[in-house]
Amino acid sequence: MGCCEIPRGLKICLIATAILIATLAVVVLVLSLTILKPKQPKINTKSVTLNYIKWIPFPFHLNVTLGIVVSVDNPNYGSFQFDNSTAYISYRGTAAADAPIEHDTIPARGSHDITMTVVVIVDSLTSNPSFWVDFTTGCLNFTSSATLHGKATVFKILKKKVTTYTTCDLSVYIQEQNVASVCKSNVKY
Ligand SMILES: *[C@@H]1O[C@H](CO)[C@@H](O)[C@H](O)[C@H]1NC(C)=O
Ligand SMILES: *[C@@H]1O[C@H](CO)[C@@H](O)[C@H](O)[C@H]1NC(C)=O
Ligand SMILES: *[C@@H]1O[C@H](CO)[C@@H](O)[C@H](O)[C@H]1NC(C)=O
Repeated sequence: MGCCEIPRGLKICLIATAILIATLAVVVLVLSLTILKPKQPKINTKSVTLNYIKWIPFPFHLNVTLGIVVSVDNPNYGSFQFDNSTAYISYRGTAAADAPIEHDTIPARGSHDITMTVVVIVDSLTSNPSFWVDFTTGCLNFTSSATLHGKATVFKILKKKVTTYTTCDLSVYIQEQNVASVCKSNVKY
């Protein structure tokens, strides 16, 4: 036996160990690229209801109180944390109301509902010339939007910054006292 020759038994053992390590590395790599890869959480508007409406013709006052429920779904095998945010209601491009969304952590593969009450005091919108045209049709169209910024984390090492949002077109029917909504969700990377 030469000085640097490796005994046969040890050689087999080293090769077997190397194969095992390589196999584990491939498994970990495949898992981290597939099911463990941080995915986009999604925010959806589940419902919009007209909680309260009060109209006084003179002096003009219109209080439209909306109840908005959005759900935040986290598809990850790790938690999704989002920062404080704000939901906005606008009327023909003008901000009309907002409501705070408090920061939260959605557990792995979990979902939370956020319920908001948004009071739209329409009085200040009456300076918009289109307002009176819309008002006489009995239908006021608003848009709502909510955006969440956060971080999806799997095993503390796989992290991804996430922005997800939902917007709705809302039609408030003043006489009928109801609201129709068409919502969509999207994702920004
Ligand atoms: C509008 O209506 C809501 C719900 O009843 C009420 O809480 C709020 O104080 C009202 N706001 C105004 C300015 O009338
Ligand atoms: C988020 O909002 C809550 C309640 O409004 C507040 O207590 C907290 O300090 C805010 N957190 C951040 C990071 O701004
Ligand atoms: C308000 O939205 C409804 C539904 O999308 C639409 O039919 C209507 O024309 C809109 N009204 C105005 C004034 O834009």
